[in-house]
Amino acid sequence: PYPAYRRLRETEPVHESPFGFWVMSGYEDIAALLRAGMSVDDHKLASGPVRDQREQLDAATRGGVLGLSMLERDPPDHTRLRSLVGKVFTPRKVAALEPEITALVDARLDEIAEAGRVDLMAALAFPLPFAVISKLLGIPEAGHERVRDLSGLLVRTLEPVADQELLDAVAKAGIEMAEIIREIIAWKRAHPAEDLLSALIAAEQDGDRLSDDELIAQVTLLYVAGHETTMNLIANGVTALLRNPGQLALLRERPELAANAVEEFLRYDSPVQQTRRITLEPYTVAGRTIPARTFVIAALAAANRDPRFWGDDAEDLRIDRELARNHISFGAGAHHCLGPALARLEGRVAIERLVRRFPRLGFAGEVEMNGRMNLRGPQHLPVSV
Ligand code: HEM
Repeated sequence: PYPAYRRLRETEPVHESPFGFWVMSGYEDIAALLRAGMSVDDHKLASGPVRDQREQLDAATRGGVLGLSMLERDPPDHTRLRSLVGKVFTPRKVAALEPEITALVDARLDEIAEAGRVDLMAALAFPLPFAVISKLLGIPEAGHERVRDLSGLLVRTLEPVADQELLDAVAKAGIEMAEIIREIIAWKRAHPAEDLLSALIAAEQDGDRLSDDELIAQVTLLYVAGHETTMNLIANGVTALLRNPGQLALLRERPELAANAVEEFLRYDSPVQQTRRITLEPYTVAGRTIPARTFVIAALAAANRDPRFWGDDAEDLRIDRELARNHISFGAGAHHCLGPALARLEGRVAIERLVRRFPRLGFAGEVEMNGRMNLRGPQHLPVSV
């Protein structure tokens, strides 16, 4: 997509698409848009395909149970839901996970060493974040393999145009996922433990005003966001390193660059390529006026390579880039991602240890992409060690 992003940025950084939505691609414009406090609730759209899609999904999934997540709610609901989740999903809980994450990574690397040649998606990039978010939430991994397929479909709702067949599949996945999460919550109520889900249930019982459907939606959001994104961070990061051998050599030489390398991977190939906002009033930017109640895509991945912000080497991978951390991959404003500490920790430990352990790490075949517009990354990443 990067040549297309470049074309957009250069020719029409605020673009009105023929599909009834707008696309922004410049860094400063996007940063301002996300901080402008606009809506994220598709129900506020005047009309158009995104609104139709939302209504179809609502109708198919009992009033859109999963659409009750904070990601799609405006104040005061957003404020209430985010503060409730923020109370239990704390940086301390994340930092405490480092030994466990390290052990999980090393166990995976042992298996990779044994096999010699693997699909890194199946061997590390998916199972690590899935194990970590399952552990954090207190959901057993066994018995929930189905969640993987369902998550892959659910994230398609973050794309603006879906064909009818896909939309039907997404709606079915939404219903099945909501049922799985409902059962998990019922089980957890009977078996509380030291985990995030138990803490959320307890907070709710303390009178924090969360409906059953809202609880289902927040747990689903954490569960899905917890692995579908970090998986792409790890896989896109490894792919970028293998395509840039000089940078891989630099990381081997200076392992202390690992944390900054993760920021650069987030910038260079954003695991979440876009987020969105809905204007409530006409919004004027770069000489264009976007009408009220219109869907605007903020192309984060395009902003992350905007030369006006990053300079002439914006399209290059440079793991020692100063200010790489200024990327906009976690969004900005009221909906800024809740999981950066966890994503950074997993990404750093996984990539640092993978690179250190396997001096002969290389591609073992073509990288096959997952075909998604937003949560973009490899479907298969064959490597040999
Ligand atoms: C929201 C990216 C990992 C939980 C978001 C947004 C983006 C994003 C772009 C929307 C921001 C906006 O519209 O302003 C990412 C990336 C990740 C990642 C690139 C990994 C590399 C995680 C993890 C979790 C998480 C590990 C939790 C376990 C959330 C939640 C929201 C969110 C709960 C909604 C926040 C709100 O609406 O207030 N993330 N995320 N994310 N993310 Fe992440």
